[in-house]
Amino acid sequence: MEKISAIRGMNDLLPEKSRVWRNLEKKIATVFSNYGFDEIRTPILERTELFLKGLGEVTDIVEKEMYSFEDQLNGKTYSLRPENTAAVVRASVQHSLTYNEPRKLWYYGPMFRHERPQAGRYRQFFQFGVEMLGYDSPESEVELILMCNAVWRSIGLDGNLLPKLKLNSIGTSEERSLYVQALRDFFQKHVGILDNENLNRLKRNPLRILDSKNEDLVKLKDQAPKITAFLGNASKSHFENLLSLLDSHQISYDVDLKLVRGLDYYNSTVFEWKVSGFGAQDTICGGGRYDALVPLLGGAPTGACGFAIGMERLVEIFEADSRERKETFVDLYFAHAGKDARVIAIKVAEQVRKAGMSVKVDLTHASLKTQVKRAFRNSAEFLAIFGEEELKTGQVSVRWLSREEGEAHQIMVPYAELVEFLRKNKTGNGSQ
Ligand code: HAM
Repeated sequence: MEKISAIRGMNDLLPEKSRVWRNLEKKIATVFSNYGFDEIRTPILERTELFLKGLGEVTDIVEKEMYSFEDQLNGKTYSLRPENTAAVVRASVQHSLTYNEPRKLWYYGPMFRHERPQAGRYRQFFQFGVEMLGYDSPESEVELILMCNAVWRSIGLDGNLLPKLKLNSIGTSEERSLYVQALRDFFQKHVGILDNENLNRLKRNPLRILDSKNEDLVKLKDQAPKITAFLGNASKSHFENLLSLLDSHQISYDVDLKLVRGLDYYNSTVFEWKVSGFGAQDTICGGGRYDALVPLLGGAPTGACGFAIGMERLVEIFEADSRERKETFVDLYFAHAGKDARVIAIKVAEQVRKAGMSVKVDLTHASLKTQVKRAFRNSAEFLAIFGEEELKTGQVSVRWLSREEGEAHQIMVPYAELVEFLRKNKTGNGSQ
């Protein structure tokens, strides 16, 4: 029979990989709650018009990357969400979330874009995102940036793997439309150098030319007019305030005047975090201010800003760190020899779980040697072995699996004292 495989660009997360993901997910969610953000969960499917309106009709996502279909039962058009800012704003307007106070929200889940799959670019990918609704000061943007930093710290990224911050201000929509006109005039004079895709952008949205990855255009883009000349006093002072706040927090950054982001809802501050050495897909986080989106989707005018981190890219960077990490995924692995031992192992394991620790009991008839190998493969912190000898003495032999040479590795513990022993000696976070 022919085997059916997953859709291209949509990945299975096998158990070994899921462990790594789960570990990072817990850490990131903890950072977000430490900053007082609440989780919001919205549907994966939304009305297509939400994204047409919210993201802008002349954006790559809306023009060519949405998974949209007509529901045959009611003739309506829906889309798998390509991103979640529009949906969070939709939910906030629908449920009047900011009626009493501004909101700090986070979300996590799969997004869908019909892009050409390659390393770091998938058709289903996961984002951790944050949206601050009802906030308009540069301090809110600083908080976003501090949170990103806290995420990098919480998962131990440093050295070359520490993401670098790039920032820009793209002003108000009025300022931007003057700038777009200046860009149009400039690129119009150089149509001979533009490829087909950018000729199309020139007609429809010249700002997107600055996003182009075409190496032949680097010089031309450098010569293009800069947004700075078009910013009014309010936009300038907002951005200057932000930069001086970042300085006061000793956060390093580069101002990148070509950074415009690929979605139309942004205004004022935009930012990205990049890690070099990961090819074209080196942006692991993008965000900025989007004050016009809430009124555009029917809410009262209010300041808003946020960011999203791409989980696949974050995991790739995390795994590029070759330092050995002593992560444990289960507190105790229970190996046993014989039926009687198994019966007792299951009972004792239940007591350990009741005490809040995780235990995996090997329920097979494999040899002790194989079971011990599995304990290592399962990244257990401790291995308990129940052999015939142990049964006779009412004790269990416990081994530390992650101890260095020279440290004590093994000890006999009476069953009745196993919970207490683990409580005292456990250092890992195997209890998920
Ligand atoms: P975005 O820049 O489109 O922004 O996506 C944010 C991050 O998601 C990217 O930096 C990247 O790490 C990841 N990402 C995007 N597309 C893919 C893909 N095809 N495969 C793998 N990873 C991908 C947004 O989505 C905005 N909603 C962010 C935001 C929130 N702005 C304000 N609030």
